[in-house]
Amino acid sequence: MSITELIIRRPDDWHLHLRDGSMMKAVVPFSSAYFGRAIIMPNLIPPVTTVEQAAIYRKKIMEAVPDNHDFEPLMTLYLTEATRPEEIWRGVDSGLIKAVKFYPAGATTNSESGVRDLKNVMSVLEKMADIGLPLLVHGEVTDPEVDIFDREAVFIDTVLDPLRRRLPELRVVMEHVTTTTGVNYVVSSDKNLAATITTHHLIINRNDILTGGIKPHYYCLPVAKREKHRLALRAAAVSGDARFFLGTDSAPHLDGAKECICGCAGIFTAFNTLGCLATVFEQEGRLSKLEAFVSLNGPKFYRLSPNASRVRLYKTHDPVMSPEKIKTADGPVTVFNPMFSVYWRAENIAEGQN
Ligand code: NCD
Ligand code: ZN
Repeated sequence: MSITELIIRRPDDWHLHLRDGSMMKAVVPFSSAYFGRAIIMPNLIPPVTTVEQAAIYRKKIMEAVPDNHDFEPLMTLYLTEATRPEEIWRGVDSGLIKAVKFYPAGATTNSESGVRDLKNVMSVLEKMADIGLPLLVHGEVTDPEVDIFDREAVFIDTVLDPLRRRLPELRVVMEHVTTTTGVNYVVSSDKNLAATITTHHLIINRNDILTGGIKPHYYCLPVAKREKHRLALRAAAVSGDARFFLGTDSAPHLDGAKECICGCAGIFTAFNTLGCLATVFEQEGRLSKLEAFVSLNGPKFYRLSPNASRVRLYKTHDPVMSPEKIKTADGPVTVFNPMFSVYWRAENIAEGQN
């Protein structure tokens, strides 16, 4: 008998871009409706590099959360070569800062202030290793000589592995892992390494971006790879292995910024992520592992409890329709199209009904 209903702990999103201003107001409710917590990416303009900026940003996010939603933004700091270690400790001591994000300078959207050479932030990383604060890495080298499809593998060899050998106690999350090399690297580690996997990398490969015309709404960084890599990501996500958990990397951009001669990287998946994921796990015959991936493995790595409340996912008779776009005060944002019909809906289970 096929499964038609699933009751899971309220999920969390361990990698989310909420932006600022009217974009933030428009997108926050899609995450806060069914997600309990999210790791909030700090790549705003200017980036969130100080505890004060993170506190202000958190407050703005909370103001955008509808009154009847139960959502906690988990704040991060953007690591720069000018970051003073005391700034991070202050944030951690106050309970506000849950992780530090490492963008190699120039690797992705708004990463210009990122790190050029890890040597220049080593004292920060050493202290992070001491206190167990996770470093969230955008795992791509930026060397123009390195082919864009190889950037993750080269990053592992030349940056991440040397770093982890030097600081084995440093707790690292490889954000949005996209290749078999990345998956195997995580699986081969004995401790202190985990990876987030996005919704869209479980669904699209590079053909979806480039065949039948160029599709800017499937373009993100790290860019989607060959089919064999997508299959490796699916196998990792549905395996139940606690080192893999959901980070949607939902990254909204206005359509105008994507549909142009130099389109931005980023896919907006917050709108329909749970339905897409339920479909993927169903296709793999592993719905029983969905809760581990979206609700249990992440908190375990972050040393937090799973959410107390629960969400019901249930199968619908008719496909659940997503709009092609959502509106923001500044213009439309295209919703991720998974190219399959979704027959799963989510519903919050009211307190006391658990
Ligand atoms: C992200 C964004 O737009 O902020 N884009 C993306 O393609 N994922 C940045 C990032 O996470 O790389
Ligand atoms: Zn991201």
